[in-house]
Amino acid sequence: MVAQGVLGYDDFKVEGQMGSRALKVLVRAQEIVSDRGSYRYVEIGSYLGRTLQPHLQDKDCKKVLSIDLRPDVTPDERKMLRDYQGITAEDMVTRLAEHVGTKDLGKLETVTDTSGSLRTRSKREAPFELALIDGEHTVTAAFCDFLNLLPRMRPNGMVLFDDTSVILPAIQNAIAMLQAEGRPAAAFFGVGGISAIALGEGAEETVDAFGPDLTIGLDKAFKRHRERSISATISTHLARTLRHNPGNRRRAAKILTERGYRVTPPTEEQAAE
Ligand SMILES: C[S@@+](CC[C@H](N)C(=O)[O-])C[C@H]1O[C@@H](n2cnc3c(N)ncnc32)[C@H](O)[C@@H]1O
Repeated sequence: MVAQGVLGYDDFKVEGQMGSRALKVLVRAQEIVSDRGSYRYVEIGSYLGRTLQPHLQDKDCKKVLSIDLRPDVTPDERKMLRDYQGITAEDMVTRLAEHVGTKDLGKLETVTDTSGSLRTRSKREAPFELALIDGEHTVTAAFCDFLNLLPRMRPNGMVLFDDTSVILPAIQNAIAMLQAEGRPAAAFFGVGGISAIALGEGAEETVDAFGPDLTIGLDKAFKRHRERSISATISTHLARTLRHNPGNRRRAAKILTERGYRVTPPTEEQAAE
């Protein structure tokens, strides 16, 4: 097993978008899973390989599967189209090879596709103990990734999600589905935007093992999701709906005035924008 408290932020040598608090949760998940013995790791969305590196270097990790569609642009729940700058699987392997030895790199398989590719893999392939969903940041795609991963997971495996505040409804759907199917599972909502669904009979103990310092709980996760959704709506739709719909403009001005804001009509130039 990877010794507890040994892996830290500085061990993640490859550039990426995951911050230090998120990495703490990922490291804890790795400790929890590797504490049970050898494991296999699958990831949807790898970019340059930052979140693959510690698993490649973990003696208990026997296989690392990286699935990444590598699209030029990708939809995002925040209504931005994210640009991953034409990074290919080969670029990622080159970057990883700067920090990971040849033998460890031999554990890596890369697939340039969506998680749908999991459905066509051999049914005899050994299941995965740990997964991370960090691909297309839409609720539809994250839920779909979960559905594609689920049949490939060990019965007591764990699926991690990045950017909870963006795709929280996908996690809630996944939990509701497992409950409806009578499958034991437990959810964890952690710092740094990382969540987890632990599967199987020991699921509650698995999520408890993250510990209170890394846990924020559903209420806080929901609050962050709502704030993120409101801010995305404001930045993408508000100006347009106010400009084009006089009814909305009047309602907004009324609400703001009632709350003590001073509302002035736009200048001719602003109105014409
Ligand atoms: C946020 S980045 C992953 C970051 C990486 N896990 C890290 O920590 O550095 C998202 C990745 O998802 C990939 N991606 C976007 N849409 C996808 C899809 N539909 N299926 C699979 N991968 C996708 C992008 O190419 C990008 O590399």
